[in-house]
Amino acid sequence: MTEAPPYPQKRTCPYEPPAGYREIGERGPVLKVTLFDGREAWMVTGYRESREILTHPNLSSQRTHPGFPIVAPRFRSQIARTLALIAMDPPVHDVYRRYLNPHFSLKSVRRMRPEIERIVAGFVDRIVEHGPPADLVPLLAVPLPSLVICRHLGVPYEDHDFFQDASGKVMLGTEEESATAAQDLFDYIDRLVAEQIKDPSDGLLGTLVRERVVTGDIGHDELVSIALVLLIAAHETTSSSLALGVITLLEHPEQLALLREDPDRLPGAVEELLRYIATTDLVATRVAKGDIEIAGHLIRAGEGVLVSGTLANRDAAVHERADELDVLREDSHHLTFGFGIHQCLGQNLARLELEVAFKELFTRIPGIRLAAPVGELPILGAGTVQRVLQLPVAW
Ligand code: HEM
Repeated sequence: MTEAPPYPQKRTCPYEPPAGYREIGERGPVLKVTLFDGREAWMVTGYRESREILTHPNLSSQRTHPGFPIVAPRFRSQIARTLALIAMDPPVHDVYRRYLNPHFSLKSVRRMRPEIERIVAGFVDRIVEHGPPADLVPLLAVPLPSLVICRHLGVPYEDHDFFQDASGKVMLGTEEESATAAQDLFDYIDRLVAEQIKDPSDGLLGTLVRERVVTGDIGHDELVSIALVLLIAAHETTSSSLALGVITLLEHPEQLALLREDPDRLPGAVEELLRYIATTDLVATRVAKGDIEIAGHLIRAGEGVLVSGTLANRDAAVHERADELDVLREDSHHLTFGFGIHQCLGQNLARLELEVAFKELFTRIPGIRLAAPVGELPILGAGTVQRVLQLPVAW
């Protein structure tokens, strides 16, 4: 057994942890892993320990810190290291969250339901018109989160090809692709924010101009970095969760039948799917800014810390039958949206998109089935967002 096993590893099944994670899990709840650049970082795999460390005051999100663990070459770029919110610590982080939280609260998101239902119905119309076999990645999984976040922000959807492509490359491209795409996105948003400051629209960007820029709380550059992180964070995560969720349900027909029997079970099923598929394999990347004692280990100031959503979500200490998908589970508590102060800002929106999409898809196309063996679906994104590149279905 190696001293510190390699992390990340690739999934071979879209919804199952990579085989090598069994060893990592067995050596948890806290252990050291080896990253692609040969450096070591601490990894937390236990559910309780993950929550404990994610609320520890000595944990920092400062990606410019020399000890910050980099899990793939693309995260070395300057833009990735200085993202708003994600790469910030309190007190500035808390101020930004205070500005943004009300616009992503359950109440605000509920008001978006009729529009999201209309958007989803339109995409499913196109799938039906297309006829089998149809690839759900370009027909639903990619455009749905894109259109929803564009409408919410007040970003012109005509440009969706550009930022779908760019945000995909930022999250999943090579180091060079990712850095170029991040710069292109930055330049695009820079122009957009300048226009919004001159003539604010009804969307969130215009609202933030009225609420925060005019008042002098934030300036042009801050608004650009907020818009950038919202666009990047909303795209790949939701798109991948949608595709992985569909695959998982189609591969578990008895579970899908339970949802068809009673669609009111869908919100609970979405939670269980989020637990089970753990789209964001890694839910937090941090550096210790002071010593941290956890589960009998001492993490020293300056050492890197990773939290594995994939393993915490399957932790048998808190989940009965942890490796089983059970859409009727009473409490599928999971870490797919992270935990603590950085917990996902867009989680209510993501849940709603998933619920509406699953409902419409499985109601309108009752005979839907995978048109390729699940083992042959190409998956990208070890360690970060797990993305299927094609999702062919037939009916
Ligand atoms: C199923 C879909 C999604 C998943 C699995 C997901 C996952 C996550 C995770 C794990 C974090 C915590 C990162 C950390 O602690 O370092 C996070 C943060 C964040 N997410 Fe999401 N996310 C999703 C959808 C969205 C959407 C739709 C938005 C759109 C607004 C969004 C915006 C953000 C932002 C801005 C943060 C940073 C929050 C902070 O640092 O305070 N996410 N997300």
